[in-house]
Amino acid sequence: MSFTITGTGRAVPERTVTNDELSTMMETSDEWISSRTGIRERRVLTHETLLELTAAAGRNALENAGASPDEIDLLLVTTLQGDYISPSLSCLVAGELGLSRCTQMLDINMACCGFLYALDAADSYFRAGKATKALVISAEAMSRLLDWGDRSTCVLFGDGAGAAVLEPGDGLLGIRLTVSPGAEHISVGIRGDDSPFENTHNCFSLRMNGQEIYIFAVSAITTEIGKILTSHGLTPDDVGHYVLHQANLRILESARRKLKQPPEKVPHSIERYGNTSSASIPILLDELNRAGTLADGETVVLCGFGAGLTTGTCLLRWHTSKN
Ligand code: ACO
Repeated sequence: MSFTITGTGRAVPERTVTNDELSTMMETSDEWISSRTGIRERRVLTHETLLELTAAAGRNALENAGASPDEIDLLLVTTLQGDYISPSLSCLVAGELGLSRCTQMLDINMACCGFLYALDAADSYFRAGKATKALVISAEAMSRLLDWGDRSTCVLFGDGAGAAVLEPGDGLLGIRLTVSPGAEHISVGIRGDDSPFENTHNCFSLRMNGQEIYIFAVSAITTEIGKILTSHGLTPDDVGHYVLHQANLRILESARRKLKQPPEKVPHSIERYGNTSSASIPILLDELNRAGTLADGETVVLCGFGAGLTTGTCLLRWHTSKN
């Protein structure tokens, strides 16, 4: 037996930046951004820290699960970069949330697939008997990692955090992860220019070959979902909802058509938040959970793809009893 998700949470920055506002800052338009991506606006950190956002999402999930902070014995935080490189975001958020019994904690940097990799790691902790109640938080400050002079990437992303509480149970049916190692299609560099010894100069900001990622994403989503469903003797019609990484509405639509599913089974929030990397799946999961959209006992597929290149696909049996 592994885990069941018993609570979810989310937090987004206060500041909304619309496509129209971006078009006053660079040569772009609401029409270009929304027709190619579905994005209308995104949230961006201003006065908040990423730690505050991470803690707010975690607190929200604990409340939703009816769990107290001192019950948590595993904390997994996924992020491309916290407020500090060290201490880790998980160390700081454990303090912020008062997780007094928790010493098992990790930051996981697996870009847009972070939430799936965290669920996979949590599965191992539960099976090994090393965790009884876990908190997973995916939190991203994409606005700090972008080249705001590159209109082809900076309009696509947003900041946010999503979280889930995991308790022993039979909610997890399976997880599949894949990796095709390489940084040529999407990467975020490091600031290493200060070393007098190093003569390689990485570009710090996010760089992406959008068309390559687009092709990879559509094929990866449908292939990986097909594989996990087949291995469990299921077909796409047996799934209640598909909670997919929110990178581009056209990618979601294309995958939906290939899976031959109606629009209501592939919900999206990209129009309001942009691409929040690893936070996008748990943010959407929380919206669906709180709206009562997910029925007790229904099969839910989570699927992410991103830098690495990685994919992560998870099959869940949703339980609403404690949600
Ligand atoms: N506003 C106006 N024009 C723009 C903008 C902008 N913001 N950005 C680029 N353009 C221009 C380009 O300069 C180009 O002009 P040109 O033809 O005169 O050279 C033109 O628009 C077309 O550019 P393309 O890059 O070819 O546009 P495309 O239709 O491929 O759409 C997009 C780009 C939206 C990025 C698309 O490729 C995509 O969504 N790819 C997937 C990206 C993705 O999923 N990323 C996330 C996955 S990984 C992760 O989540 C971390």
